Amino acid sequence: MEDNDLYQVIFKRKSIRKYDLTPLDEDRLKEISDHLQTLEPLHKDIKIEFKILSPDLVKRRMMRKAPHYIAVFSEPKDGYLNNVGFMLQQMDLFFSANGLGSCWYGIPQLKKEGLKSSNLEFIMLMSFGNPQESLHRTNISEFKRKSLQEISDIEGADEILEAARLAPSAGNGQPWFFTGDKNAIHAYSIKPGFVRGLLTKKYPPIDVGISLYHLKLAAEHFGRGTEIVFDKPEMDNLNEYDYVASLRLK
Ligand SMILES: Cc1cc2nc3c(=O)[nH]c(=O)nc-3n(C[C@H](O)[C@H](O)[C@H](O)COP(=O)(O)O)c2cc1C
Repeated sequence: MEDNDLYQVIFKRKSIRKYDLTPLDEDRLKEISDHLQTLEPLHKDIKIEFKILSPDLVKRRMMRKAPHYIAVFSEPKDGYLNNVGFMLQQMDLFFSANGLGSCWYGIPQLKKEGLKSSNLEFIMLMSFGNPQESLHRTNISEFKRKSLQEISDIEGADEILEAARLAPSAGNGQPWFFTGDKNAIHAYSIKPGFVRGLLTKKYPPIDVGISLYHLKLAAEHFGRGTEIVFDKPEMDNLNEYDYVASLRLK
């Protein structure tokens, strides 16, 4: 399984919820488990663990069954949900690039025995397996997303912002906003109270972590050096938003 050109996957990936329930073979699962150990963190100092679990450890809560799930566990420290989004999105793209389907799953929960697989706090699931529906979108118009104008006021960085715009989010809420300029993009998440109909406030920070990874991948694709810093701009009047991080472009 290969990791090259994840940037291209941004424009065709989709959530896969219908799977061939035959488990993947041991070699493939080993490759996936090895890849999980190579994910780039957003916050290096936050302990995080990924476990590959079978469906009998998952309370599916009306969601279709998948042959495998990744369960994410983390230390609950500042920025930990952004970190989960940033890291696990690397797997979503990796699966899609390698012919497998995946879906972020916030509604399903772990059964007691599943929760015992780590001492850290259980955060979220991602299903994966061989898809039983088309794996990729064939046209950008199949993405139901806000326009660039709705999610950013930056001029001259459309190519990079487009990748963040297409990112997946819980309930497709797209709770992100990007401000700054073409040399430093500041990422914000809508404060949970401002997202209509949201059942859990843990989603927006995860979603923005996801879009931040897309942003970084795009910047690097266009030959820019990148650095993610946590340095809230002083002059911001985005009261409905929480500052997440800034992507510096070199
Ligand atoms: C944090 C998070 C939680 C999600 N939870 C669920 C879920 O519980 N059930 C589900 O069917 N889809 C879930 N999704 C998938 C979103 O509904 C999906 O990403 C969004 O509608 C955009 O569609 P796309 O991924 O096909 O582009 C979740 C996505 C994210 C990012």
